[in-house]
Amino acid sequence: MLKPKIFVTRLLPKPAMNKLEETFDVQVNPYDRVLTKEEIIKETKWCDILLCLLSDTIDKDIITCNPNLKGIVNYAVGYNNVDIQTATSLNIPVTNTPGVLTAATADLAWSLIFSVARRTPESDIYMRTGNFTGWAPMLLLGGDITGKTLGIVGAGRIGTAIAKRSIGFDMKVLYVDKNRTIESEIKAEQVELEELLKRADFVSIHVPLNSETKHLISEKKLKLMKQSAYLINTSRGPVVDEKALVKALNEGWITGAGLDVYENEPEMVEGLKDCKNAVLLPHLGSATNETRTNMGLICADNAKVIWKGEQPPQIVNPEIYK
Ligand code: GLV
Ligand code: GLV
Repeated sequence: MLKPKIFVTRLLPKPAMNKLEETFDVQVNPYDRVLTKEEIIKETKWCDILLCLLSDTIDKDIITCNPNLKGIVNYAVGYNNVDIQTATSLNIPVTNTPGVLTAATADLAWSLIFSVARRTPESDIYMRTGNFTGWAPMLLLGGDITGKTLGIVGAGRIGTAIAKRSIGFDMKVLYVDKNRTIESEIKAEQVELEELLKRADFVSIHVPLNSETKHLISEKKLKLMKQSAYLINTSRGPVVDEKALVKALNEGWITGAGLDVYENEPEMVEGLKDCKNAVLLPHLGSATNETRTNMGLICADNAKVIWKGEQPPQIVNPEIYK
């Protein structure tokens, strides 16, 4: 029997590719780069299912180029890169990869907290460039973490996991979330965003990107933060006004920032790379061998269930099955 066809926009870990091949005739982007829109359209035209990445913008032109497209499987928990409205209007299921990357992303957010507060990237460069001439009382001083206040903006799976990891550091936890409370899982205080920004020593962002969260952390909001505070963003770049953040870092409205995501990835706004008080990572939240494999396995599973005509487990637009 002829296998259904899936197009994969970038090579995934081997176990995931193997699992996809059990069900599908798999074609994968042959290049080690993000495909152009035209290239994605060319491949989407013939496939039954499209497996895409957060770095692929799956817009109306792509979704409507193949009237037989059965599903869109996004290799990410965030799905702001897919035009969900168009997919839903055409009854095309879209899936994501929640859950499996929660721990890895929470761990990475913590690595940003540690590295920005204790200035470890800067200190590593200091050593490698031969600047260390001996212990000194004022050398590369950072900020304390233990006993401080952690502010979680968006207490979903990832935000809550970060809050839980703070227990060992005796931190006070504040959080903002309109949809859920977490007090049954961890000692924390629900507050409004303005209050959180005024009180927290570390502000960590965990909201999805949508029209309500774009530039949620604006110039005005950055000005509410303490001068001694740090901003951590492992969610989506456009949630923070990156230009305003550069100003905040340069003019000392806040002490530092730890960023894993950018407004116009892979670009950075002018001036950001020169901010010594920023720690900058190339969108690595879920980047562990285990997690990236598990994300691929989830995608393979969802693709298979979509092909069977059933509701996939990690569905983003369940209304199409109602
Ligand atoms: C990563 O940013 C993801 O959404 O999976
Ligand atoms: C994403 O998985 C979240 O709920 O934080």
